[in-house]
Amino acid sequence: MSQTIEKRDPAPQELRSLYAVIRDELGQVDELLRRELTSEYPFVDELAQHGFRLGGKRLRPALVLLSGQLCGQITDAHLKLAAAVEMVHTATLVHDDVLDEAALRRHLDTVNARWDNETSILLGDYLFAKALCLAASVEGSYAVRSLIEASRRVCEGELRQVGACGDYDLAEAEYLEIIDGKTAALCACCCEIGAFYAGASEDDTAALTRFGGKLGIAFQIVDDVLDVLGDEKTAGKSLGTDLVKQKPTLPLIRLLGQSSPDQRAEMIEILSSTTDHHREALWPWLKDSDAIEYAKRKATHFIEEASAELANWPDAPSKESLVGIARFVIDRRQ
Ligand code: IPE
Ligand code: IPE
Ligand code: MG
Ligand code: MG
Repeated sequence: MSQTIEKRDPAPQELRSLYAVIRDELGQVDELLRRELTSEYPFVDELAQHGFRLGGKRLRPALVLLSGQLCGQITDAHLKLAAAVEMVHTATLVHDDVLDEAALRRHLDTVNARWDNETSILLGDYLFAKALCLAASVEGSYAVRSLIEASRRVCEGELRQVGACGDYDLAEAEYLEIIDGKTAALCACCCEIGAFYAGASEDDTAALTRFGGKLGIAFQIVDDVLDVLGDEKTAGKSLGTDLVKQKPTLPLIRLLGQSSPDQRAEMIEILSSTTDHHREALWPWLKDSDAIEYAKRKATHFIEEASAELANWPDAPSKESLVGIARFVIDRRQ
């Protein structure tokens, strides 16, 4: 993959306006990330910079900062924690791309594609350790404990998903539990520590934690829809890997659940094949079903529940941005 796209702004236009109220702070977080991930060893430096060169959407740092702003003021602790959650997130992506044998991430080739799995595993661990060091540098142990617990839940969710591969009888409730761990736990943690370090009450911290968790569930449902019908160039990452890896995600669970035994058997045969044309082969069935609509409706339901968690806060720019981010999640293409 060519490096000529380096100047591209990673955040879509909608997010850039939603981030306007924290623009300066997000800039400081990026600067902190750049500094923290500079290494005196050229190979380590090259690797650590790789995933950050273009950056992703920076959704998790934004959740920390906006939650902080909503509950009080953004402090130095918020900046460090925003950088730490982005490092944890990136670490999970580097590892996830090994699991999914993905080739593209953040519009660049993945670490496993450009280097190898060994390098990816070590880099993921390195980023994770860096994140915890940074989180441990803020006052008290609340942030570091919350981040460790979130990371444990992310790994548990990913492990459960590995265990569920090829299980096309997986119940929707179990799918929701899996994504609650692998994706929502970190989003919830971002809002929790953002609120806590702004001196929010226990009730307000809990409400924002629930907001982040529900947003995270919707985020992953939409991600799973994008995996079956999104555009790789727009998304900037490999798509279709859920089908190739036989992950039972919501669009598929719904599609199979609504099909006759014969159709189901035919689809499972496609999914079990060793080709990587699963997306194209399943498309005729998907487009004639309500599976995509159903998954989008579910995501919308979680977004409505998430937004309702903010009801007790008066109108404020940071609240508007959080609600706007929740809406963005539904229609996102990347
Ligand atoms: C990707 O997260 C992993 C999922 C939880 C689906 P993002 O879509 O937020 O990734 P970046 O940070 O923008 O690259
Ligand atoms: C993994 O889910 C999300 C993580 C917690 C790392 P996906 O496998 O769907 O994430 P993408 O689509 O590769 O970003
Ligand atoms: Mg993946
Ligand atoms: Mg995905």
